[in-house]
Amino acid sequence: MTNVENVTVVGAGTMGSGIAHVFAQSGCAVALVDQSEDLLAAGIQTIEKNLGRQLEKEKITTEERDQTLRRVAQRTDLADGAAEADLVVEAVTEKEAVKKDVFQTLDQHAPAEAILASNTSSISITWLGAQTERPERVIGMHFFNPVPMMSLVEVVRGLETTDAVYDTTEGLAEDLGKDPVEVADFPGFVSNRILMPMINEAVFCLMEGVADAEDIDTVMTLGMNHPMGPLTLADFIGLDVCLSIMEVLHTQLGDDKYRPCPLLRQKVTAGHLGRKSGQGFFGYE
Ligand code: NAI
Repeated sequence: MTNVENVTVVGAGTMGSGIAHVFAQSGCAVALVDQSEDLLAAGIQTIEKNLGRQLEKEKITTEERDQTLRRVAQRTDLADGAAEADLVVEAVTEKEAVKKDVFQTLDQHAPAEAILASNTSSISITWLGAQTERPERVIGMHFFNPVPMMSLVEVVRGLETTDAVYDTTEGLAEDLGKDPVEVADFPGFVSNRILMPMINEAVFCLMEGVADAEDIDTVMTLGMNHPMGPLTLADFIGLDVCLSIMEVLHTQLGDDKYRPCPLLRQKVTAGHLGRKSGQGFFGYE
């Protein structure tokens, strides 16, 4: 792999566990960092479960599964976990204050040559770089959920990211078997800039009574060949996540076409967050 052997993944949640999984599977030594042993154990359990699925489908052997797991070390101390990193991928909670803290600690403790990448969906890579003394080595590596299955990675250039850092990161994504796409550091990158306004418009259609939820989704699955309707997808992503990304687009691009639909806001206020809360645009057991 492109001069990168030691990878630190910060955050062992939905995305961090998937990112640790694919790097370990490609042969890297991974230090997985989270705030407690319990959170780390949950992350490892997710990796085990997903490796189990790959094994069932005969995509990997038992030996590959065991080797992958052996390559993941668990750390609760970020400074310690980043000390040997060639590359750090940050996948902590999507809050500026939390990420700022993590990037400042990484800047102090990761080797000077290490690349600091973020999996953020909506926070500016240029801003994250500006929290460090090495903005030229800060980049976005935006994976998609579930990471072991989805091949796309948006590789996001901050204003100061160098070509060399971009090239290494793109090469790394290819080494993982992914398909990297180069994007500039604008709110929502390409994926959420296009996806979220579509979801938001579907919610407007629902609110205005253009059609009911099921029919809106049917139009997009049967008519546009989308594998999943926008309202089902919103429930899957989490309505709170959709709302907060729309708010970022609206505030940072300053165009009213990005205003979040009042019905989306109302659902979030009521705690109807989609699959994870059992109720969104549709009901779940
Ligand atoms: P999550 O809530 O599942 O996991 C976040 C993890 O970060 C938690 O385990 C939390 O304990 C840990 N954490 C928080 N502060 C920390 C700190 N200071 N040090 C170490 N660990 C810390 O969140 P999820 O969904 O995995 O999202 C992580 C990032 O990935 C966010 O930036 C999100 O925008 C981005 N993302 C999420 C996608 C998704 O579908 N869930 C898709 C693409 C990007």
